[in-house]
Amino acid sequence: MTQTLTLRRPDDWHLHLRDGAMLKAVLPDTARDFARAIIMPNLVPPVVTAADAAAYRDRIRAALPEGADFTPLMTLYLTETTDPADVVAAHAEGLVTAVKLYPAGATTNSDSGVRDMRKVQPVFEAMAEAGIPLCVHGEVTRPEIDIFDREAVFIEEVLDPIRTRTPGLRVVMEHITTADACAYLRDGGETLGATITTHHLMINRNHILVGGIRPHYYCLPVAKRERHREALVDLATSGFDRVFLGTDSAPHTQANKETACGCAGIYSAPVTMPCLAQVFEDAGALDRLEAFASLNGPAFYGMAPNAGTMTLEKGEPLEIPAPLATGDGPVIVFDPGRPVLWRVVG
Ligand code: NCD
Ligand code: ZN
Repeated sequence: MTQTLTLRRPDDWHLHLRDGAMLKAVLPDTARDFARAIIMPNLVPPVVTAADAAAYRDRIRAALPEGADFTPLMTLYLTETTDPADVVAAHAEGLVTAVKLYPAGATTNSDSGVRDMRKVQPVFEAMAEAGIPLCVHGEVTRPEIDIFDREAVFIEEVLDPIRTRTPGLRVVMEHITTADACAYLRDGGETLGATITTHHLMINRNHILVGGIRPHYYCLPVAKRERHREALVDLATSGFDRVFLGTDSAPHTQANKETACGCAGIYSAPVTMPCLAQVFEDAGALDRLEAFASLNGPAFYGMAPNAGTMTLEKGEPLEIPAPLATGDGPVIVFDPGRPVLWRVVG
């Protein structure tokens, strides 16, 4: 008998869609499987003001395939000159769902990010008051901090102080990669949530570096040791309700990945749901996939879960799709390097 799994239609709480030709090419892969996604604002130049967000939302809507059922949830890119009143107004009118904090220089297109957290304290306070979530790229950028330690140091040196001086601020620790982040989340209380990516549940740092350097496994935050991956799987599959899916699907062209200084980012949108079903099945927790992918995120953001459903079926190993053709060049799709026996059938 064929094994199937039906869950509420999932959402993606952290997604890069880019713009122009790339947007047009990648958007169908997300709109097929996900009803909503939190859209990252790290365009060049970034999505900083309410007007920028409205224009970007309209470009996304215009790029949607006919008949697609997909709602982009827009974010603003926090800078040291962000106006608290603009943020609050954009949220009040339903244009913007969250604000994104990038420490300056932490990752792809983060040059306009925040250098001095004190400068954005008035924005944090206005957000706490209005109940606007802050999505955080949680890595310090000081050159003397080892890249594998940057998340743990950020929690202690930056995130915890922000939360202590801004009571009530709702924070999403995005794409967590360490046991340290899992522990901080569990103790964090109801204002703290976290997302986990598909790839951080499936790869560790050996995948990037053993037997040759594999740029298509390179992303930020960089994958850590196996024990950290195991902590992420334990948390995601535990039924804990403040952790949810954020794919961080981040397309870069093959040429920009396979080069002497390759870009960070993994394109996982087309295969995420089959991969997650495999991870959850392997952990004996298939019945908890729905909470992670479809229920916990809306609950944290104060939204209703989607009305529609998705059905997955177990069978022959999934074939990883061929590189996605885009107007900018091909984009390689995430291949976890092990059999995935699930596929989306409806
Ligand atoms: C993201 C990108 O390419 O925009 N890259 C990544 O490795 N995740 C930026 C980010 O989310 O850090
Ligand atoms: Zn991202």
